[in-house]
Formats: sequence, structure tokens, C-alpha cells
Amino acid sequence: MAKSVDVLVIGAGPAGYIAAIRAAQLGFTTACAEKWVNPKGDNVLGGTCLNVGCIPSKALLASSEEFDKINHHVAEHGISVKDVSVDVGRMTSRKDEIVGKMTKGIEFLFRKNKITWLKGQATIQGQNNNLIRVQVGEEVVEAKNLIIATGSKARHLPGVPVDNEIICDNEGALSLKAVPKRLGVIGAGVIGLELGSVWRRLGADVSILEAAPDFLAACDESVSKDAFKLFTGQGLKIQMGVKIGEVKKSAKGVEVHYSTASGSSETLACDRLIVSVGRVPNTDNLGLESIGLATDERGFIPVDDHCRTKLSNVFAIGDVVRGPMLAHKGEDEGVMVAEIIAGQKPHIDYNCIPWVIYTSPEIAWVGETEQQLKAEGRSYKAGVFPFAANGRALGMGESEGFVKILADAASDEILGVHIVSSGASDLIAEAAVAMEFKASAEDIARICHPHPSLSEVMREAALATDKRALNM
Ligand code: FAD
Ligand code: NAI
Repeated sequence: MAKSVDVLVIGAGPAGYIAAIRAAQLGFTTACAEKWVNPKGDNVLGGTCLNVGCIPSKALLASSEEFDKINHHVAEHGISVKDVSVDVGRMTSRKDEIVGKMTKGIEFLFRKNKITWLKGQATIQGQNNNLIRVQVGEEVVEAKNLIIATGSKARHLPGVPVDNEIICDNEGALSLKAVPKRLGVIGAGVIGLELGSVWRRLGADVSILEAAPDFLAACDESVSKDAFKLFTGQGLKIQMGVKIGEVKKSAKGVEVHYSTASGSSETLACDRLIVSVGRVPNTDNLGLESIGLATDERGFIPVDDHCRTKLSNVFAIGDVVRGPMLAHKGEDEGVMVAEIIAGQKPHIDYNCIPWVIYTSPEIAWVGETEQQLKAEGRSYKAGVFPFAANGRALGMGESEGFVKILADAASDEILGVHIVSSGASDLIAEAAVAMEFKASAEDIARICHPHPSLSEVMREAALATDKRALNM
């Protein structure tokens, strides 16, 4: 007989595992189907984020930043270090240990919340009397409510065979066995910049080829301009507006033929190549048609503002639906749908979801960019304050970047905050809180910020919207 549950979640990435935990907290009998098997052959929870995304990439970022600091930045503190070398194997095992701890942590949370983990590929089979039937491995489950959180996978380019040895997507790029002498990257997006920076700091000569004419077009223009200068100054070679042609793999490496914006034909020879040209939703063989659902033309599952599909008891969340492909966006959607199933009335303000690019310095923003406000014809004022005028930043040797606050010209409501700096991922949380509370720039300006701290730059930028920054 089929197992019966109140809530079945398909996928245990950050969207799905959080949805399962919240549903269990709310008293529902909850099961979560997850098929991920790691390279050791173990079934694991956590999805892309924990296994081959956010967590391992940030572990390698931290290791490479330590190496870079010792090589280039401790001398100014009067510290000299000789014979610095890097053991990529040890660095990778540290990353794997962190991933292992985190994925085991979710197993613990599942046990604690009495969530049944169904190991294997889930396929929706149909519905009967509002019960959704899903096959997971040998087992059939009937669910009163279904939450689809199947996530996304790397988009590959036709004619560019990813083997995750020589030509890598995010999975191979996180597990290179040695620092390549010459690393090519296709795509100057989030992954290209984060992982390109990791291997550059470890000593690779990194060349990034990007199709779009404008660098980081989603960012505020002042941020993308500053970031381009900083990253190329650090040694990343970034070419914009290219058209990728033939990509030839040999035992020694890869040759990428491409044409430049001016039309000339060029070749990039490299030892390893990372392809980071975006991600596509996982909806293949899911059986959506068996319950009358279909994906849109890009493969996403259509949902309303509350992540409900056209079936009232079927929801979809995370990377498999519209909106930014970010772990915290998926987590919030997971909480929201579990609470909706429980009859609550939660809501997400998608304009208040922060973005972070974990380069060095980091880039973070929330809300609208200056170019968006201009396009909307909205009257706004901007306040900018540089970290170069902040004592803590100077003491830390992290004085690059700035905070820019955009506020409504009449009401002073904060409309967007854009940061380039060390620790921007933490600083942006204050901006997200302020925007959720519909704060004005004056609210931030009147709040006491600790001294000396990087957060003082946020306050100074708020004061600068009214042309009254104190320390500049
Ligand atoms: P996923 O994490 O993709 O999880 C989906 C799960 O569903 C998978 O475990 C999959 O095995 C399972 N599944 C799929 N189909 C089935 C099926 N039919 N049956 C059973 N199980 C199934 N985001 C950030 O916010 N911050 C970052 O710093 C960040 N860094 C990243 C770095 C990299 C290199 C990458 C690739 C991504 C990064 N992201 C980051 C994006 C983030 O990983 C995703 O937005 C997030 O993982 C999406 O969560 P999800 O639960 O929707 O999907
Ligand atoms: P992306 O969308 O950030 O960047 C892809 C880049 O590749 C774009 O600039 C695009 O113009 C370019 N591109 C596309 N086709 C191309 C082609 N044929 N030739 C050359 N360039 C081409 O995608 P990315 O970096 O793969 O990351 C996927 C997603 O994962 C991100 O959008 C983000 O949602 C998530 N992510 C989030 C992180 C974070 O929050 N810090 C870190 C890493 C990933």
C-alpha cells in the first residue's frame, strides 16, 4: 500500500530541506525525496548549495584568500613569511570535510523533525481525489500537498563537452587537482568571477571570455565599473563581447576559438576550462504532465507570487521557478509555502532579497539600481561613502570600495543599497532589514553604529544622501 503523507517535498537543496523542516514544525507528516549521490557513493542531502555550490565555493574562497593575504598583504604589517606553498589536495579535503559536516547536519535535522528521507529519483505519477501520487525508487507515496524543489544544473554549451577534468562546470571547477598554469573561463557571471578569483589567487593565469557587452549588467553601474577596475587590476583578464566558436580539447588542454567585439578571430589556449554560462531548471522526467502541469519555454515551473502552481495543493520553489537562483531566496520560499499549507498568510518581498558576489572585495546589493530608477523616471537622491575614509577598513588593509544608498527624493525611503567591500555580505543585511521596514535614509543616519567598524560607512552613505556625511 502507498505511504501517505501530508506534505511531500521533492529535492533536499536549501529550498526543499527548509520547506520540509518548516512543514514538520507545523505538525505535518512530512517526507522528502532526494536522489543526490556524492562521489564517494553516499546518498546525501543539501542539493547544489551544500554539495557543489555555495558551501564548497566559499570554503575554497577562504583558503585562497588566506594564501593571497600571506603572499601579498602581511608584509605591510611588518610580517615576513618565507617559502609559502599551497597543498591543493589538503585544501580540497578541508572543503570536502566542511561539506560533509553540513550535509550530515541536515540528516540530523531531518531525524530531529521526524522527516522521512526517501532516497532516490522521484517521478510524479498522477492524482486521485486530490492526493498526488509520486514514485520514489520502489516506493509509491500519496501526498496531500506536493512541494517541488528540484533545483537547477549547469547549462552547457553545444560542442563544448564537459568532462569535469579538463573542461569543467561548477562541479569540476571546485575539485581541480592542481592549480592550472593557464585557466580559461567562459562567462564572467557570478561563478566565473568567484571561481576564477579562487584559482587566480592560487597562482593561475586566468582569462575570462564573456559574451555580453557590459560587465555585471545586473549591478548598479558604479559597482560594475569599480569592480571591473579592481578585478582586472588584480590580474583577471576579462574580455567582453566575445562570440565563442570551436572549442578543441586535447590531452594537454583546451583551445577556445572566439571572435572579439571588433570582429577579429582569436584563440585562447589553456590547461583547464571552466564553463559558467548560467543554470537551467531540473524538470526533466519529473512527470509534471501526469498532473496536468507543464514548464514554460525555459524549463521553469510557472507559479504565482506565493509559489503555487495552477493546482492548489502543488507548489514549486527555489531554482526551479522564476526569480534569482539564490539559496536564501529558495529557503524563504520553502518557509512561505509550508506556512501557506498551514493556512497562514506569509509573503515575500522579492525586492528585498539581497545579492552577494563573493569576490575580493565582495559585491552586495539589495533593491533597485540607479539605472533602474532612471528608467522608471523616479526622483531619487544618492549618497556614496568610500571605505578609504573609514579607520577600521584602513586598519584591516581593506579600504577598497564604497557604499551607495539610493533614496526617494521626496519621502527619503531607501530604494536600493549597493556595496563593494570586504564583508559586504554581512553589511548588506542591515540594508535588507532597513528596506523590509521601509526605513528612510535618515533612519540609518540616526542609528548609532559601532566605532570603529565597517558599518559606519553605511551610516555615512545614508548621511551623504542629504549631503551631510561627517567624515568626508
Ligand atoms: P538545489 O540546491 O539544486 O537542490 C535541488 C535538489 O533536488 C538536488 O539535491 C537534486 O538532487 C534534487 N532533485 C532534483 N530532481 C529530483 C527528483 N526528480 N527526485 C529526487 N530529487 C531530485 N546561492 C547563494 O545564495 N549564495 C551563494 O554563495 C551561492 N554560491 C553558489 C556557487 C555555485 C558554484 C553554484 C553552482 C551555485 C551557487 N548558489 C549560491 C546558488 C544556489 O546553490 C542555488 O540557488 C540553490 O542551491 C538552489 O536551491 P534549490 O533547493 O532550489 O535547488
Ligand atoms: P550567471 O548568469 O551569473 O553568469 C553567466 C554569464 O555567462 C553571463 O554573464 C552571460 O552573459 C555569460 N554567457 C552566457 N552564454 C555565454 C556564451 N555562449 N559565451 C560567453 N559568455 C556567455 O551564471 P553562472 O555564473 O553560471 O551562475 C549561475 C547562477 O548560480 C547565478 O546566476 C546565481 O544565481 C547562482 N550563483 C550565485 C552565487 C552567489 O550568490 N554568490 C555564486 C555562484 C552562483
